[in-house]
Amino acid sequence: MSKKNKQARFAENRVLPNVFQPTREEAVAGYKLKGKWREQVFKNTNPIVLELGCGKGEYSVGLAKAFPEKNFIGVDIKGARFWFGAKEAYESNLTNAVFLRTQIELIDGFFEENEVDEIWITFPDPQIKYRRTKHRMTHPEFLERYKKILKKDGIMHLKTDSEFLHGYTIGLLQGQGLEILTAHHDIYGAPEYEPNTPLLRDIQTHYEQLFSAKGKTITYIKFKIH
Ligand SMILES: C[S@@+](CC[C@H](N)C(=O)[O-])C[C@H]1O[C@@H](n2cnc3c(N)ncnc32)[C@H](O)[C@@H]1O
Repeated sequence: MSKKNKQARFAENRVLPNVFQPTREEAVAGYKLKGKWREQVFKNTNPIVLELGCGKGEYSVGLAKAFPEKNFIGVDIKGARFWFGAKEAYESNLTNAVFLRTQIELIDGFFEENEVDEIWITFPDPQIKYRRTKHRMTHPEFLERYKKILKKDGIMHLKTDSEFLHGYTIGLLQGQGLEILTAHHDIYGAPEYEPNTPLLRDIQTHYEQLFSAKGKTITYIKFKIH
C-alpha cells in the first residue's frame, strides 16, 4: 500500500460516519459510547457482535449484510485496512456495521459489562514465540478482557490457519474448564461436517485467502468463556 493511498484512506476514515477513532486517553477514561452503542449508534436494541483484529472487515460486513437484526463492530488498530470494510458498508447503506480503531488491549474501555453478545477473532497473528505468549488473542489476559464485556451466555469464535493457535486455544480452554461448543481442525476438509455456524465457510477474509492459497488448512473453534 503506497503512502499516498494510506493517507487518502486515513482522510476518508475521518469523515466516514461509521468510523470511530478515539484516543487512548478516551478509552482509558471509559469511552463516551461505552454502554450506549445500541442506543446512540445503531438506534436499536439488537445484539452486538465484535470482530477483533478485523483487518479489511470481511466478517463484519458479510455478517452485517446477512443478519440485519444484529449490529457489527469491526475493531482494528490499522485504519487503512478497515477502510475497505467501512467504505463498503457506507456505500451499501449498511446501518448495522461500524468500525472502531483501537488496541484490543483497551476493549473494556469501550463496552459495558454484558454489552456484547458475540466475538469473532479472525486470523490473528498466532504469536508463536514464547516471549510473545501474552500477545496471543486467546491468552488468558485477553479472555479476561472479553469476559468483562461479553454477556454470560455469549459466544466466541476463533477462525485461524494456525494449527499452533488452534491447539493452544483448545488446551487453554480445557485447562480452564471452559465450554468448547465446536472445534474443527479443517473446516473445508470434511464435506459431511457442518459446524452450524452461518457463513463460516462462505466468508473468506483477506488473510484466509492468502493462507489457503499456500495450502494451509483452516480451523475453527466456537466456545464460551463464562
Ligand atoms: C493477520 S491480520 C488478520 C486480519 C483479518 N482478520 C483477516 O483475516 O484478513 C491481524 C489483524 O489484527 C490487527 N491487530 C493485531 N494486534 C492488534 C491489537 N492488539 N489491537 C488491535 N488490532 C490488532 C492487525 O492490525 C491486523 O489487521
